[in-house]
Amino acid sequence: MKIQRFSRVGFIMAAAGSAVGLGNIWKFPYMTGEYGGGAFVLVYLFTIAFIGFSVMVAEMLIGALGRKDTVGSFETLAPPNKKYWKYAGLIGFNGIIIMTFYSVVIGWIFYYLIILMFGLPSTTEDAKTIFDTLVTQSPGVAIFYHTIAVIIVGYIVHKGIKSGIEKINLILMPALMLILFGLLLYAFSLDGFTKAWSFMFEPKWDKLNSEAIVRAVGHSFFTLSLGMGAIMTYAASLPKDANITKTAFIVTFMDTFIALIAGLVIFSFLFQFGASPSQGPGLVFISLPTILDNFGSLGIIFALLFFLSLAFAGITSAISLVEPVVQYLIDRFDFSRTKAVAFISSIYWLVGIAALLSYTKGWGDLFSIAGKPIFDILEYTTDSILLPLGGLLIAIFIGYEIHQDRVKAELEPEMGEKVYKVWRFSIRYIAPISLLFMMLNLMGIIKI
Ligand code: PHE
Repeated sequence: MKIQRFSRVGFIMAAAGSAVGLGNIWKFPYMTGEYGGGAFVLVYLFTIAFIGFSVMVAEMLIGALGRKDTVGSFETLAPPNKKYWKYAGLIGFNGIIIMTFYSVVIGWIFYYLIILMFGLPSTTEDAKTIFDTLVTQSPGVAIFYHTIAVIIVGYIVHKGIKSGIEKINLILMPALMLILFGLLLYAFSLDGFTKAWSFMFEPKWDKLNSEAIVRAVGHSFFTLSLGMGAIMTYAASLPKDANITKTAFIVTFMDTFIALIAGLVIFSFLFQFGASPSQGPGLVFISLPTILDNFGSLGIIFALLFFLSLAFAGITSAISLVEPVVQYLIDRFDFSRTKAVAFISSIYWLVGIAALLSYTKGWGDLFSIAGKPIFDILEYTTDSILLPLGGLLIAIFIGYEIHQDRVKAELEPEMGEKVYKVWRFSIRYIAPISLLFMMLNLMGIIKI
């Protein structure tokens, strides 16, 4: 098994690069908009702190102690009579399912980067037409950009941990932060900023329903890249003396911070010209470009920078979605890296095309199941079922199955006695119970 090691900064950037993705810059703002702002943000922050962070530590620990692909790490760490735990390592495949639609969305972003250079839509109607034409009427164009996304991601992953994944994250992550901070600085000067601030940080509890709570829990997993072995696979390449607790904290903090900044930037622009925050998934593709048109040619620059940051965030997350299965194929089936990447990429490229066609007018019916587009089914299944299930397995494995002295020896010196106790309580009770609750709720088995 030939695992390369990240440098310490390289690991933090790679793990943060995985976490900071479309979930932060595209999904978090529109979910906040849809679920009424402040109260949703508070629930989200609460789940990140009390569930997400604990599971992040647990997932990193499995990788750092196991030092193999996801299946291998579970197998190595499982007690001798419970080697069936290796099957939990198959959560790595969740990443490939996510990639089917994730790379389609990255494709949309590439398309926007090209067309926005030529001008912004001046009315919402125009903006809607651009988005709808791309998504529902131009399968050829969408497939083209989806293919470009698959090729770029495949190329980086095929270069391996050091000269592919680490290198690209060390470039794109600082660039992404620079762009978002720059946009935030400008947003400060707008009147819309105060409105954005109160929208995001003054909770209006009447807007909070049980659906919002369940979605916040699900999203905290998606945004931290938990429950599918991305963090675990990266952690197998963690430098030897790395402090897991500290690293997990930095990654969780960066992810949350960037989501909040993206939200503030988008809402400041939107509120400056009185646009509504609850536009759903079209928020950044439809409302934002239209609003930016009010800034004249500066608006084009803002729009390009914004979509560039989205593209960077998307790419660095995408590589972490593909890497676990690539590592699995290399470790278990002796694939060469190139062959593993080619094999896996062709599969999600093909399913991605089906997902993309399921939104089109001509093919929609053919690629829908029970009236639901395959795109939505894939997204719902991963977000609401597979990632929480992965998180649940990780929490149970670390909380109950693995030799507890080992966990203690690793984490207590890092956390101190008291924090370690709190973490352990969270991983044994709070995390599994909330995850179970959330899954049952989403599957309609119980209602809160
Ligand atoms: N965290 C990424 C995002 O916010 C998505 C992701 C999920 C990446 C799971 C890897 C693993 O967009």
